Amino acid sequence: MAIISDDSLVGYMVAAHVLDQADIHTVVVDVAVRGRGYAKQLLQTMLARLAGKGVEQVFLEVRKSNQAAQRLYLGAGFSFTGKRRHYYTNADGVREDALLMMMSIN
Ligand SMILES: CC(C)(COP(=O)(O)OP(=O)(O)OC[C@H]1O[C@@H](n2cnc3c(N)ncnc32)[C@H](O)[C@@H]1OP(=O)(O)O)[C@@H](O)C(=O)NCCC(=O)NCCS
Repeated sequence: MAIISDDSLVGYMVAAHVLDQADIHTVVVDVAVRGRGYAKQLLQTMLARLAGKGVEQVFLEVRKSNQAAQRLYLGAGFSFTGKRRHYYTNADGVREDALLMMMSIN
């Protein structure tokens, strides 16, 4: 799912669902237009679309350092459910934990 503004791609979100569960794989907004509510709009539209397909639980992983994304998801109603140690490898080779989040819908 994507947001186009003035013929330009400003953000997109990718999710996959199987039966009543879904995973959000990524959400990205162009750095030039962050803080304008585009990610919130993408997430709300995606959650409504998944609910319409019968999804009841939505899962995702987020870097422990990614405060912006965590606040986005907490604001939408997600909760922390656990963590995966050293899940990500950053560009400098340092490993970082993934925080697991989940939300019930429908
Ligand atoms: C995370 C990201 C998608 C947010 O996109 P955005 O369009 O700027 O977000 P929005 O303007 O819709 O903000 C929605 C909420 O996210 C949170 N948020 C967004 N940017 C934030 C920041 N810099 N610091 C803290 N919270 C932030 C806030 O809770 C905000 O709600 P509020 O404005 O009511 O406080 C964007 O920063 C991005 O593309 N980051 C790089 C990719 C990434 O980290 N994706 C997530 C991977 S799990």
